[in-house]
Amino acid sequence: MCGIVCYVGTKQAKPILLNGLKQLEYRGYDSAGIAIQRGTRVVRYRSVGKIEELERKLHDVTLPGNTGIAHTRWATHGEPSEHNAHPHTDQEKKVFVIHNGIIENFHTIKKKLEKDGIVFGSDTDTEVLAHLIAINFDGDLAEAVRKTMAQVEGTFGMAVLHKNVPDQIVVARRGSPLIIGISEDGHLAASDISAMVRYTDKVVHIEDNELAVLTRDDFSISTAQATLIKRDTERVEWTAEDAELNGFPHYMLKEIYEQPDTIRNAMRGRIELGEGVPKLGGIVPVWDKLKESRHLVIVGCGTSYYAGCVGRYIFERLTEIDVEVELASEFRYRKLNFPPNTFILALSQSGETADTLAAIREAKRKGANLLGIVNVVGSSISRETDAGVYNHAGPEIGVASTKIFTSQLTILTLLALLLGRHQNLSLTEGVTAIRALQALPEQVKQVLAQAHHIEAIAEKYHKYNNWLFLGRKYNFPIAMEGALKLKEISYIHAEGYAAGEMKHGPIALVSPNMPTVAIAPMDEMYEKMISNIQEIKSRRGPVIAIISRGDEKIREMVDEVIEIPCTLDYLYPILVVVPCQLLAYYCARFLGRDIDKPRNLAKSVTVE
Ligand code: F6R
Repeated sequence: MCGIVCYVGTKQAKPILLNGLKQLEYRGYDSAGIAIQRGTRVVRYRSVGKIEELERKLHDVTLPGNTGIAHTRWATHGEPSEHNAHPHTDQEKKVFVIHNGIIENFHTIKKKLEKDGIVFGSDTDTEVLAHLIAINFDGDLAEAVRKTMAQVEGTFGMAVLHKNVPDQIVVARRGSPLIIGISEDGHLAASDISAMVRYTDKVVHIEDNELAVLTRDDFSISTAQATLIKRDTERVEWTAEDAELNGFPHYMLKEIYEQPDTIRNAMRGRIELGEGVPKLGGIVPVWDKLKESRHLVIVGCGTSYYAGCVGRYIFERLTEIDVEVELASEFRYRKLNFPPNTFILALSQSGETADTLAAIREAKRKGANLLGIVNVVGSSISRETDAGVYNHAGPEIGVASTKIFTSQLTILTLLALLLGRHQNLSLTEGVTAIRALQALPEQVKQVLAQAHHIEAIAEKYHKYNNWLFLGRKYNFPIAMEGALKLKEISYIHAEGYAAGEMKHGPIALVSPNMPTVAIAPMDEMYEKMISNIQEIKSRRGPVIAIISRGDEKIREMVDEVIEIPCTLDYLYPILVVVPCQLLAYYCARFLGRDIDKPRNLAKSVTVE
């Protein structure tokens, strides 16, 4: 998705902005641009493709100036091209705007402006902002932006410069994240903290329908009605190093390898063996209601949704609560009818996914209580939920989510265990669960130690164009997640199925040309999975089986095995997903794909 970074201060803006743009690359983009101001002169450069293109253009250009705005664009209105890249400007080239989001009434506004004789220089919705701000400007840039906010419908995070207002940037937000950074030498603003962590760990969040004026020495936030707002600064817990590759060839691989730590971090300070009852400080504000609730709806998108699907089985196993899981993009359009004291639990790495946000807003309107499991501290979902639990997993930069999935599963287990222990779950079961959870980081390390073996399997199979992933119960969502990982980064077509569904259709696909990844640890569904594997083998389909260590029975039946350590049935998903992640990673690598930035995908989907 599009990215915004701005700076006003005593230092040269160009290197700070270019560096910020590079930190935003992981979100996905197709073009980039920058505008730098010095006194009443503003220069603008834009390019299609990678940030390096923009850098090449700027290489021999001296761009002194301590104020600037920069953007990575992900095309929505108009093809990826230089004239559609941001910043956009008005006819007299006085106003420069960068924008994330979508201006829904841009068509009507554009028609009207064109009637008034304004000539547009791009096909974008953003350009109307530049023209409107120029028309509304009478010396006060913030006021011009405020008036424009009232004229446009849709979503925006925007940053604006005006040629005649040196050393000032105005930023505004409605539905698209924006954060102010406070550094020793000035102020930054960005759509994502990672663009600023190199320069500051002090941030202030801007809320919907607010705008902020940034200067070198100061910043002020106000509402769309011009009421001043006082808001405390927050400390960012990530460091610049967390956002580096640290010797790994890709962020995705680095993040797969971080999982022993991120699973440990998800449990840090939250588990105690004694009573077998986890402690989750973040849900204390709603605890009295939550412990009485018997209805939970988990919402999320993509990988977060699949974590929710595993969560449903875990809650059913450990608690007395009825659990539904819904794709946030569908849930938001459903006719919602909850029993009293229903909790909605949003799962989101970014905390900014538009559908998940819209789903919780709709549920709130209907009187539900809101919980979140979110990685990005201070993100919209974390702010709009009544209570929640942070992943504390550090930034996830690879577009394909890995470490957050296992972290989400760990936290879902803690939450289910906590509620279960206040319901019917025995002390013995509680203590057994905690012991098994504590063993997980070391067990994930044992799975990671087989990376070379998994790489060899990927080398053998990466040329197959169609794959099937099968699992049952706890591991059915892992089959879907494994298929999603493979398709999104390698572009191999893959389907994830509940193994019991084979006979109802997908078995027709089985042939020597389609490998099946069978997720078959020694859990309660083990014998059933063996039958499914036999069905595939008798039709000469190659099978790669993920099995429990020491399982000789399946080993003899299949073409390849990947062994994982033994754990409790409901914790297997955390172990079996790791080989699926590695298999997808290595297949994509053999196919020469752009693993951290797969085509057509963005890290954070902030539009519907
Ligand atoms: C897939 C992936 C996506 C995200 C989805 C939700 O690897 O990363 O499917 O899981 O876009 O994102 P969050 O968790 O940020 O709400």
